[in-house]
Amino acid sequence: MPAPDLTPFRAQFPALANKTYFNYGGQGPLAERALEAICSIERQIQIDGPFNGKVNAALQLNSSATRRMIANLLGVPDNTISLTEDVTVGCNIALWGLAWQAGDQIVMTDCEHPGVIAAVMELARRFDLTVTIAPILDLLNDGDLVAAIVDRLTPRTRLVIVSHLLWNTGHVLPLAEINHACHHFPTDTGQTIRVMVDAAQSVGLLPLDLDVIDVDFYAFTGHKWLCGAAGVGGLYVSEAARSDLAPTFIGWRGIETDAIGNPTDWKPNGQRYEVATSAYPLYAGLREAIAIHEEWGTASERYTAICDRALRLWSGLQNLEGIECYASAPPRSGLVSFRRAEGQHQTLVHHLETQGFMLRTILYPDCVRACVHYFTTEEEIDRLLRAIADFS
Ligand SMILES: Cc1ncc(COP(=O)(O)O)c(C=O)c1O
Repeated sequence: MPAPDLTPFRAQFPALANKTYFNYGGQGPLAERALEAICSIERQIQIDGPFNGKVNAALQLNSSATRRMIANLLGVPDNTISLTEDVTVGCNIALWGLAWQAGDQIVMTDCEHPGVIAAVMELARRFDLTVTIAPILDLLNDGDLVAAIVDRLTPRTRLVIVSHLLWNTGHVLPLAEINHACHHFPTDTGQTIRVMVDAAQSVGLLPLDLDVIDVDFYAFTGHKWLCGAAGVGGLYVSEAARSDLAPTFIGWRGIETDAIGNPTDWKPNGQRYEVATSAYPLYAGLREAIAIHEEWGTASERYTAICDRALRLWSGLQNLEGIECYASAPPRSGLVSFRRAEGQHQTLVHHLETQGFMLRTILYPDCVRACVHYFTTEEEIDRLLRAIADFS
């Protein structure tokens, strides 16, 4: 079957017109329609307000529509979603809000993002916690990932930290199995071990049904695979885990007040983790970005297209001399990491960038990462393969 003509679809994205883009895991491009949605809300705010009852009511609707659209994408109820700025803020809300006791244990994989690792290190220092690393990197192609985590749980484990989809190698972790094993592991106090998921690379890439995979905390952003504007992300907290998680950053958006404005309680839903004034027009940009994806196809159709493109790239890389892909099996995501026998990854990425190809290096493991979206063309992939082959 001939590949569909993606030209009209891609024409919506100014960023795609003048380069060959393989950095979707860093940031997705913003469509003209999403840009326009942001400007049009800001313009309306200025015309009607900027601050008055009418504008405030419209902004409430803007926020609730955004939570609803995200919840729909994740397969969860609206009341479990908190709007944040990015992945890392969502992770910090989950990390700092648990009732830590000295000696509690966190189990975290060796493939987490530096920002999250730094937050965990500071948390452990402040509360005198033990952090145990589950080494999964060397097991990704054929090891038992669930055992690598479960073997490190103890009765003092309170939190397990994993990424749903690894940012460094593109592997998808068996999240439902990890959640199940953690939730059923006996602890000294009878508390459930909670699982915090870094979902930076999974939201907008994988079809999701979080209710079914029984996640506790799932922190994500709109600016990567969803192609929203930078500055809007979200956090899912399951209804069961909400009672374990106190708000840490606190402000008027997260509280109920009495008749004279005194705080009386947290909001009964995910809004309790939202804080105060935000760049609200960006929410409309994210909704428009999601609408564009949905017009193209279902989450499963988009995922299938991403895996098709990734397979073309992965297979082509396998045929290049001196190149080894990190994944030994066909990719199940749009992130394809590879290394050169001769190294010099930064030099390669820099060289490709001068030719209009946007990729990035990863430090651990030392490799180059190329990301393909469902609207990456076969021609782009073939040109990239030729450019890598020509690099000497
Ligand atoms: C796995 C992972 N976690 C966290 C982040 C940080 O994302 P943000 O800037 O949205 O907090 C990234 C960004 O690349 C990532 O890939």
